[in-house]
Amino acid sequence: MDSTSYVHLVSPSFSDLFTPNVEMGKFPDGDSHVRIPALASCGQQDVVIFHRLYPSQNDGLIELLLMLDAIKHEGAKSITVVAPYLPYARQDKQTVGGEIASSHVICNLLASSGCTKLLTFDCHFLNEEGEVQYGDLLIKNISMSKDLIAHAHKVFAGQPFEVIGPDAGAAYLVKTAGGKNLNKVRKAYAEDKIAYRHIDTMEGDFDVKDKNIFLLDDMMSTGSTMIKAQEKMVEGGAKRVVCAATHGLFLYNCLDLLRKRSDIIFASDSILTAQGTVSIRAKLEDLFNNGNKLF
Ligand code: R5P
Repeated sequence: MDSTSYVHLVSPSFSDLFTPNVEMGKFPDGDSHVRIPALASCGQQDVVIFHRLYPSQNDGLIELLLMLDAIKHEGAKSITVVAPYLPYARQDKQTVGGEIASSHVICNLLASSGCTKLLTFDCHFLNEEGEVQYGDLLIKNISMSKDLIAHAHKVFAGQPFEVIGPDAGAAYLVKTAGGKNLNKVRKAYAEDKIAYRHIDTMEGDFDVKDKNIFLLDDMMSTGSTMIKAQEKMVEGGAKRVVCAATHGLFLYNCLDLLRKRSDIIFASDSILTAQGTVSIRAKLEDLFNNGNKLF
């Protein structure tokens, strides 16, 4: 990492990619304890915080707010946060009365705590790469789609394949490869303590018979979307179906279910799992080593 232009603060959640220099722990009651040994050197500097917000998103967010506030009060010129996966991003709309669109709350909290810019990957509520003002927060959305598609070329070992997104939100991920997307409609919330809207329909009017298919989405959470898309491909007579997403949460037993129809399932390492084999590291190094100013 280029350390000449910025003060880099690396949380332990990023220790797979860079050497941590922030200490995180807990008080006996579970409150978060954060120590930034380099805090005094943040004054009048452009500071970059590398901090993963998943798993344990609520703890991760509190840790981040604590860091931001302390660095802001130290007088930093700017604070960029690199959080590869933004939790709460899926809750960007109110679908029932009184429901809180938490993506707005979280982003505004980051901004008011001192975040000048958030760098994140394939953010659920954004439909293209680049910079966008979202409420009070400036976000730079970086896409892993080309890297994931490049990896798919290796998986298919030179065999031709088509890239398909399971819903309209994935359209921007697949368009660079001339891909198409299915259209997904979700039901209302299930009568359950877990807030989840099951898939009602998923349709697409293209021919996949005897073709290799690479299904690509921004995230696999419960896996329901990807499993439904696999079913559609298999029903349509696809030869081989491989699936990937930028963010692999792989909740419940979805990997077992996904493996019934796909021999290979992969993701980026925005979230650390055994399937997270396509690294975000090169993208981050480009941003910080090639003289690309963040602001
Ligand atoms: C849109 O809904 C997203 O792009 C993903 O398709 C979705 O978040 C995946 O969630 P799940 O794996 O629970 O279906």
